[in-house]
Amino acid sequence: MEVTELLTLPAVLTLLVFLLSLPLITKFVKTRKYPNLNLPPGSLGWPVIGETLRFLRSGHEGRPELFIKERMEKYDSRVFKTSMLGEPMVVFCGAAGNKFLFSNENKDVQVWWPTSVRKLLRSSLVTKVGYDAKTMRKLLMSFLNPEALKNYLAKMDSVACCHINTHWQGKEVVLVYPTVKQYAFELACCLFASIEDPTQVSRLSPQFDEFLKGVISFPINLPGTRFHCAMKAANAIRELLKLIIKKRRVDLEENKASPTQDLLSHLLVTPDSSGRFLTEIEIIDNILLLLFAGHDTSRSVITSVIKYLGQMPHVYEQVLEEQLEISKGKEAGQLLQWEDIQKMKYLWNVASEVLRLSPPVTGSYREALNNFTYANYTIPKGWKLTWSTGSSHKDPTLFPEPDNFDASRFEGTGPAPFSYAPFGGGPRMCLGQEFARLEILVFMHNMVKRFKWELFIPNEKFLYDPMLKPSKGLAIRLNSH
Ligand code: HEM
Ligand SMILES: *[C@@H]1O[C@H](CO)[C@@H](O)[C@H](O)[C@H]1NC(C)=O
Ligand SMILES: *[C@@H]1O[C@H](CO)[C@@H](O)[C@H](O)[C@H]1NC(C)=O
Repeated sequence: MEVTELLTLPAVLTLLVFLLSLPLITKFVKTRKYPNLNLPPGSLGWPVIGETLRFLRSGHEGRPELFIKERMEKYDSRVFKTSMLGEPMVVFCGAAGNKFLFSNENKDVQVWWPTSVRKLLRSSLVTKVGYDAKTMRKLLMSFLNPEALKNYLAKMDSVACCHINTHWQGKEVVLVYPTVKQYAFELACCLFASIEDPTQVSRLSPQFDEFLKGVISFPINLPGTRFHCAMKAANAIRELLKLIIKKRRVDLEENKASPTQDLLSHLLVTPDSSGRFLTEIEIIDNILLLLFAGHDTSRSVITSVIKYLGQMPHVYEQVLEEQLEISKGKEAGQLLQWEDIQKMKYLWNVASEVLRLSPPVTGSYREALNNFTYANYTIPKGWKLTWSTGSSHKDPTLFPEPDNFDASRFEGTGPAPFSYAPFGGGPRMCLGQEFARLEILVFMHNMVKRFKWELFIPNEKFLYDPMLKPSKGLAIRLNSH
């Protein structure tokens, strides 16, 4: 969500409607009514909007950790309260805050997503808690765990090769962020639903953009709002997936499609641990969820890796050496094998350091299931809770000289528990970590093998909107080896 979007006329009207909605006002008044409780210190800001705009502004300046740091210094370095997205919210800081939230799932806390996310991804995993979430996660994980993903590695490599041949090879200048988007989207279309026809992919792409733009937005379903456009786009994608599922069921029956060819087949033929098959709507909503959760995140990391490698030739050279060593053992045209991925240790340390310094996601949300105490403060039941990657990733006691790029931090046992959390943690940790790892490694392997590059704007600003991205798309000049 852009700060500027909030200032346009339809948005102001929207905001009025928002302000007039009684339940929210009631909730707001209620949150101020805890005279006897020792709540965490902090400010709830303006009615309903709370400190949302200030939080967004610090993200827009590319330093979301400043919002957190300022308040940690002003109120309490362990925990403080604020208000965002129409909800009172408590921010848990540092590795101890991460540890508390990640270890207390289903006890004192439970995963929570903003209303817009829940409304758009209605029957998917993000709206499930407790036992239902556990079984659904297990089922999705049976496609996303390393053992299963091994089988899709060659396909990933060929999508990456083909993408680079089409969109990078022979070009002098490439705008990285929009181009990497196509790779991430082509890969997801191919591995999730075997959509490989380029015209179908490019027809789907703008609808998918509309959908993505509204996933995190004010949940006001009026013509013109981002949320409304996203609902419409999601429904169009749902209709297409319905047709694909109908055909796939027939093809599976007639042995014309393979039960292991993609996520869609996998979900159609695999029951969960209680023996239940997902309904058609659940399959579609979960595919939409994975498309959303895996898209701008992976794309952001790949773009940031390209930036850092462009800025630090000595790191680039070391990555190149490792990747050439891997290629040397292979015949021309032979696709990447599982053993090759295991040899990409330095490249993964580099990507991990990128994820520490430039995490695509600033944090995620939980909800208090009970009244409980933390750091001697009372947290009321129903309040929303959040943590922040920046508050631990930039802590000098956990990462000495935290602003310096140093991939060797990830050698040996790596960072202390709960200090490094680009993928969150606990029972609701990111499901796509291994998928993202392969997606990033495979792409960067193909990039460095073929090209060296220079950045047009050496210190281009990156900002959160809502995920981390380059303000000008990151233009690079490519040189083939
Ligand atoms: C580098 C890329 C990625 C990053 C940094 C990232 C980060 C995150 C974070 C921070 C969370 C919240 C975790 C928590 O609340 O504890 C999350 C959840 C999730 N991610 Fe990722 N993610 C990435 C890629 C992916 C990919 C590629 C997929 C799918 C293929 C994916 C699927 C999911 C799902 C389904 C959830 C919700 C899990 C649940 O609610 O139980 N992510 N991710
Ligand atoms: C939580 O605390 C509030 C305020 O003291 C109290 O009114 C409420 O009954 C408590 N709820 C539970 C579930 O203990
Ligand atoms: C909570 O307060 C008690 C009594 O004032 C004190 O002894 C204890 O150290 C405090 N605990 C924390 C985590 O601050």
